[in-house]
Amino acid sequence: MSEPSTPGADAAQGAQPSLNDPFEIGGVWISNRVLLAPLAGIGNWFVRLQAKRYGAGMAVSEMVSSFGLHYGNDRTLNELMRIHPDEHPVSIQLFGQDPAVMASAASIVARSGADLIDINMGCPVPKVRRTGAGAELLTEPELALDLARAAGEGSGLPVTVKLRSGLMPDDRSGYDLAIRLVEEAGVAAIGFHPRVARQGHKGSPDYGMARELSRAIPVPMIISGGLSSADAARRAYEESGADAVMIARGSLGYPWVFSELTGSRVDPPDQAELMEELAWIIDRAEEHMGTERAGRYLRKFYPWYLERVDLPKLVKNELCQTAGLERAREIVAEIRDGEVVAV
Ligand SMILES: Cc1cc2nc3c(=O)[nH]c(=O)nc-3n(C[C@H](O)[C@H](O)[C@H](O)COP(=O)(O)O)c2cc1C
Repeated sequence: MSEPSTPGADAAQGAQPSLNDPFEIGGVWISNRVLLAPLAGIGNWFVRLQAKRYGAGMAVSEMVSSFGLHYGNDRTLNELMRIHPDEHPVSIQLFGQDPAVMASAASIVARSGADLIDINMGCPVPKVRRTGAGAELLTEPELALDLARAAGEGSGLPVTVKLRSGLMPDDRSGYDLAIRLVEEAGVAAIGFHPRVARQGHKGSPDYGMARELSRAIPVPMIISGGLSSADAARRAYEESGADAVMIARGSLGYPWVFSELTGSRVDPPDQAELMEELAWIIDRAEEHMGTERAGRYLRKFYPWYLERVDLPKLVKNELCQTAGLERAREIVAEIRDGEVVAV
């Protein structure tokens, strides 16, 4: 690996590093600047491992309840905290609104072998906001600072925060909080999604505001939002002046986006490759949660992998509706081998 450069030095020189250059978050070196974003219900160990296999520098976990960890919830501890040895460095994202619980959960995350902790201060979902967590923390900046400090004290790991630019149009409370989190709570990087919570995941992200933030903080600013393809991610990286990009929906069923961004691949995958990758996912899901649960869980994955396959809707529907892994594997193999043809 070439000698890594620090974000501060790059900014001072005015040159933006290549997405392939390593960078540092709180002393943890990351081999490139293309990361997998946290995705609830999706970003488990094998989806993160998949991103790494295709070249992502790091993957952030789906959000994990700090209460679930603190109170020893079985699935939270044994499924969500599962880390594959080839994933490192890996960041586990926590959500919650109680600093003591956050410290306790963070200590469990550290014992599980994570390299970094991210705190979710951006989730706009009412179920989460009603508890005072996620984007609701933009209304409680002092509590947000306490949570970040607690996670660091509980774990001894670098803490990052992912947040939105604000809650409502023209609100910059997320921007202001990001600066305070770095200055007053020692947060080691900011994952910035420059859409307000009210927008959900729609509308254009404000990369101009992200650029302003990247200049205002001495730690990495990782851009999220609207990174639907390798081209979109490159544009967002340049426009926002970010230190790294976080791919979210653009990676669903398409881990090749990581290879495209890190330069190891140009051509899109063909049908056989797409199906081989889906078969890999099916095997890992079965290993992770057993045949029955995996059969149900995978139904949301199939459409992502079929999006780029040219086949009649009827065939696609059969796969998307099957809850049985055996039949799913048969259909995937038929598509891979070209036994099902478009009419
Ligand atoms: C299904 C789904 C689940 C998500 N889960 C999380 C999450 O657990 N934590 C988080 O910080 N952001 C979460 N996000 C937000 C993404 O990380 C990302 O910021 C957002 O999708 C914008 O990026 P994109 O427009 O490139 O998809 C989620 C988004 C989606 C679509």
